[in-house]
Amino acid sequence: MNRRDFLAKSSAPVVAVCAACLGACSKSSSGSSAPANVNFNVDLGTQLTTVGASLVQSGVIVVRTASGNTTTSFTAVQVACTHEGTAINWNNGSNRFICPNHGANFSATGAVLLGPATRNLKQYNIAITGNTLTVTG
Ligand code: FES
Repeated sequence: MNRRDFLAKSSAPVVAVCAACLGACSKSSSGSSAPANVNFNVDLGTQLTTVGASLVQSGVIVVRTASGNTTTSFTAVQVACTHEGTAINWNNGSNRFICPNHGANFSATGAVLLGPATRNLKQYNIAITGNTLTVTG
């Protein structure tokens, strides 16, 4: 087999391997995408009753950051870290989200404060009617 024959016969598997590698690489570098078409309710009579409390639903973490049932007392952002998708946690002492995987920090509104993440978390809309908090976005 000469060089030309070898290249002609071996190029298809090489292309397939490269395509698989690119798919894997793009997955890990893109972290995770934020959930779309989110719409759910939280009963503030029984949930998120204490400052610092959080819950996760539909790929969104909702946190009570202050007392009182007003929209400024809560925040809602995507739970998946924008670095590699690990679920973030709320740290009430530092008033920020921290990723337990590689240590990225995000503000209460989802802005990157510390890498390795480079993209902000998506923030969701909050509305409150009576004891019902609604998350949309
Ligand atoms: S997955 Fe969150 S910092 Fe890496």
